[in-house]
Order: sequence, then C-alpha cells, then structure tokens
Amino acid sequence: MDNQILLTASNITKKYGGLVANQDVNLVLERGKLHALLGPNGAGKSTCINMLSGDAMPTSGKIEFLGQDITQYKAAQRSQVGIGRSYQRTNIFPQFTVLENVRLAAQSRKQEAAKIFKKASSLIWAIEKAHLSIEEAGLRGRDTSIAGLMSHGEQRQLEIAMVLATDAQVFLLDEPLAGMGSDESEKMVNVLKKLRETKAILLVEHDMDAVFAVADVITVMVNGQVLASGSPGQIKNNAAVQEAYLGQEGSFHV
Ligand SMILES: Nc1ncnc2c1ncn2[C@@H]1O[C@H](COP(=O)(O)OP(=O)(O)OP(=O)(O)O)[C@@H](O)[C@H]1O
Ligand SMILES: [Mg+2]
Repeated sequence: MDNQILLTASNITKKYGGLVANQDVNLVLERGKLHALLGPNGAGKSTCINMLSGDAMPTSGKIEFLGQDITQYKAAQRSQVGIGRSYQRTNIFPQFTVLENVRLAAQSRKQEAAKIFKKASSLIWAIEKAHLSIEEAGLRGRDTSIAGLMSHGEQRQLEIAMVLATDAQVFLLDEPLAGMGSDESEKMVNVLKKLRETKAILLVEHDMDAVFAVADVITVMVNGQVLASGSPGQIKNNAAVQEAYLGQEGSFHV
C-alpha cells in the first residue's frame, strides 16, 4: 500500500499550569510507517499521545487527520475518524474473555452502540470483527481465555487486538513492549511489523534495540520538546541525541 499521510500535528503545546509538558511538537504519521517516539522519563511522550488521541486537549497547535482539522475533537470523535490508542498501563477487562474484550472494543466505535447492537446481526458482525482482530494481533486460539489470567505479553497483544477492532488507521501505542521478556517482545515486534504494512504507528518505547530494529522514523523528545527527528541512521548519528542519550556505558539505553 502506498504511503499516505494520515495524521499531522503542528506545533502542539500542552501546558499544565506553569508546566509545559509539550512545546511546539511537530509530528507526521504515515500509513506504512512505524514512527518511534523516544525520550527520557517525563520528556512528554505520553502527553503527546494524549493530545493526538483526544485524551488531553492541546493548549495550542493543530492536529489534522487526512487534512481535516480535528484539534477540537474529543477522544470518542478521534476514534470515529480512525485514531486508536493503547495506554502505558494495561487497560483491559481482566475478568472477561479475550473475545469479550475485543468484541466490546469493536462495538465501542459504533455510535449509539446500545441501540444498534440489540440487533443479532450486528452482534454477529462484532464477533466476526473480534475474531479477525484477535488473529491479527497474534492471539489465535485464545478467544476463550480469561484476559486477566494471560501473560503480560499476551495482555498487551490483546490491547492491540482491541485497537484493531475499532478499525483504527492510526495506532498510538504507549510503551506496548514495557515489562516484556525477550520472547514476548519479539512476538510483539512481529505483530507491529505486520501492522505497519497497512497502518500508521506511533510507538513510544524505551528499548533502543527494539526501536532501531523496527522504526522507519524516530523522533526524540527531551523536556517537552523535539530534540531531533529523522531516520534511524540520522538519529544514531545526531550529535544532540548522542549527547542526551549516550550514557555512562556508552549505550543508547535510557
Ligand atoms: N495530567 C497532568 N497534569 C499535570 N502534569 C502532567 C500531567 N500529565 C503529565 N504531566 C507532566 O508532564 C510532563 C511530561 O509527562 P509525560 O507523562 O508526558 O512524560 P513521558 O515522556 O510519557 O514519561 P514516561 O517515560 O515516564 O512515561 C511531566 O513533568 C509530567 O509530570
Ligand atoms: Mg509516558
């Protein structure tokens, strides 16, 4: 699929009282590309995702989806146009099965879901959608598993399935690899690589090895501002990034 700009953030700024959590951040998310967002703790990565998802309203700046100004759209409206997200902390119904979690996500995007989904045909549609999303997120065969009893890695895959079920075109993923073992991490990276073929992904991640293995574009934030943005090669060789990141052990780890 051809690359296509889906989401553009222009000079988005978020102030919390006197604290400037994001200042004049610019980002472009394209279909077919995985864009990694890096930065130390408190740099403003989650705040940036919150502004793109509508969980936090920008203090100033502009957000466009396919050229349409969506700056004032609330989270539910952003979901309607095709922007989905996962949270830094796992956000599932632990007592429900995988299928139930994903089916509810599928239904959540439909307006007046309660009314519409009284119809059996719509319920069948949602279940069908859920099955496909579960498979795409690498959880084939886990439909009837209780979400809260699955491994941490599988729970994060479930969150990807839930975003898929909403038909999102833009995936905003806040540290989906955090706390994973290397096997789990590898599985998730494979899911993300597949996902990238047809969607635009913004991935917040601290693990540099994972980021450099999978990212097409990297933006580095420090103190609420973009320090650098470019290809993995450009970022690796960027003097300001090296200064900010190359730690005591000479590694890229934060
Ligand atoms: N709702 C809020 N109210 C007040 N301050 C906030 C709020 N959300 C974030 N902040 C502040 O904004 C700054 C950026 O926080 P943010 O959570 O975006 O960073 P982050 O890059 O995601 O960090 P981490 O890597 O630890 O997740 C921090 O100083 C944080 O305390
Ligand atoms: Mg964060």
